[in-house]
Amino acid sequence: MVQINIENVTKKFEKKNKVTMALQHINLDIDSGEFFGILGSSGSGKTTLMRIIAGLEIPTEGTVSFDQKPVSKDNKIITEVEDRNIGMVFQNWALYPHLTNFENIAFPLRIMRLKESAVNRRVKEIAELLDISEVLNKHPKEASGGQQQRVAYARALVKNPALLLLDEPFSNLDATIKDVARKYTKELQNILGFTAIIVSHDPADIFSLSRQVGVINKSLIMQTGKPIDVFTDPVSIEVARSTGEYNTILVNVKENGLRYNLSVGNMLNMDIDISKVKKSDTIEYPAGEVLLGFRPSDVIVIPSDMAGSSDLPRGFKECGEAEVAISSYYQGSFRVTLSFKDSSESFFCFHNTPLQPGEKVNIYLNPDLIHLFNAKTNKIIF
Ligand SMILES: Nc1ncnc2c1ncn2[C@@H]1O[C@H](COP(=O)(O)OP(=O)(O)OP(=O)(O)O)[C@@H](O)[C@H]1O
Ligand SMILES: [Mg+2]
Repeated sequence: MVQINIENVTKKFEKKNKVTMALQHINLDIDSGEFFGILGSSGSGKTTLMRIIAGLEIPTEGTVSFDQKPVSKDNKIITEVEDRNIGMVFQNWALYPHLTNFENIAFPLRIMRLKESAVNRRVKEIAELLDISEVLNKHPKEASGGQQQRVAYARALVKNPALLLLDEPFSNLDATIKDVARKYTKELQNILGFTAIIVSHDPADIFSLSRQVGVINKSLIMQTGKPIDVFTDPVSIEVARSTGEYNTILVNVKENGLRYNLSVGNMLNMDIDISKVKKSDTIEYPAGEVLLGFRPSDVIVIPSDMAGSSDLPRGFKECGEAEVAISSYYQGSFRVTLSFKDSSESFFCFHNTPLQPGEKVNIYLNPDLIHLFNAKTNKIIF
C-alpha cells in the first residue's frame, strides 16, 4: 500500500498550434490503503491523471509523490513506470490477443525474468483467486467478457502492486455482471491490500467502491469528499450531474419576511425559511432568477384528482401543479417528464404507475432536499 500526493499538477498538450489544458492545478491526497474514486464526464482529464500517476505521462507542472517521495516533478519523471510498483486495468483491458491468458498474466513476471516455477506458482495463485483457472490455456477471445476482465485484473495484480489504477474497468461489461465485478474488486483489495484509484463517468462505480471521491470537470477538480456528501451537497450543478441525475428549474425568488418565496409563474410556489439560508456559510443571498435543483428521487408527484388521499413522507410540502409530458417504462418504474403551463421549464421523476400525457399532477418537494444555484455560474447558493 502506498500514499499518493498530487500537488498543483497541470498537464498541457501542445500539438502544432493547438494547446489543450488536460489538467489544471490538481491537488489530491490519497491515503495508504484508500479506495479513491475520480468521477467526471468524457474529456474531463481522468485518463490523463491516471497516466500521470502511473508515470506514462509527464506533468507539465507540479509534483506527484508516492509515500512522500516525488516520483514526477515539474516536467520530469523521477521514478519510471516499471519502478512504481503499480498495476493497471484499462477500459478495453488491453490483453495481448496472440498470447494465452496464462501468458498474458505471466507477462509482467517474464519481464522480471522470474524462474519458470515461480511464474507458474504465482499465475496459478492469482488465477485461482479470480476464478479463471479453467481459461488459462485459452486465448482472450475464447473467454467471456467477465473472464477477460478478470484476466486483466490478474495481470495487473500478479506482481502484488502497492497501487492499483482502474480506468473505466467495467464499461465493457454487461449490466448484470458489472455488480459482480465491483464486488470482487472490493474483495481483492481486502485480500491483497493495495491502494486503489478508479476513474469513471459512472457514479455507480464510485458509490459501490470508493470511500473518497474527487469530481473532475473540464480539467479541474471541483469537489472532494465522501461520495454521499458530494451527492447530497454538491458545490455546483456540474457536480450534482456528475454524481447522478439532477433536475434544475429556473425560478424567481423573492424575499418575503422570514421566508424566501420561489415561483415559476403561478404553477410552482414554495417557501423556504430564511434562517436556512443565512445559517450556512454562503455569502450570496438568492435574488431574482436562480436555479432550483433537486434529484428526481426527491420529488413526489400525485395525480391532482387523487391528491390529499395519500400520506406523504415527512418534510414534503405541496408546491404547485405540473402536466405530464411523457411517461416511459424505466428499470421497474416509470420515468415521467413534467412541464409547467406557460413555461418552458420541465423536470422528471419516477413513479410506480404510468401517467398519461396531459394528466395534471400535484408536486411535492422537501425544502431540506433542494438546493439553489446561481443561474449564471451554476455555483451553489445554499
Ligand atoms: N496525447 C494527447 N494529445 C493531445 N491531447 C490529448 C492527449 N491525451 C488527451 N488529450 C486531451 O486532453 C483532454 C482530456 O483527455 P482524457 O483522455 O484525460 O479525458 P477522459 O476524462 O479520460 O475522457 P474519457 O471519459 O472520454 O476517457 C481531452 O481534451 C483530450 O482530447
Ligand atoms: Mg479516459
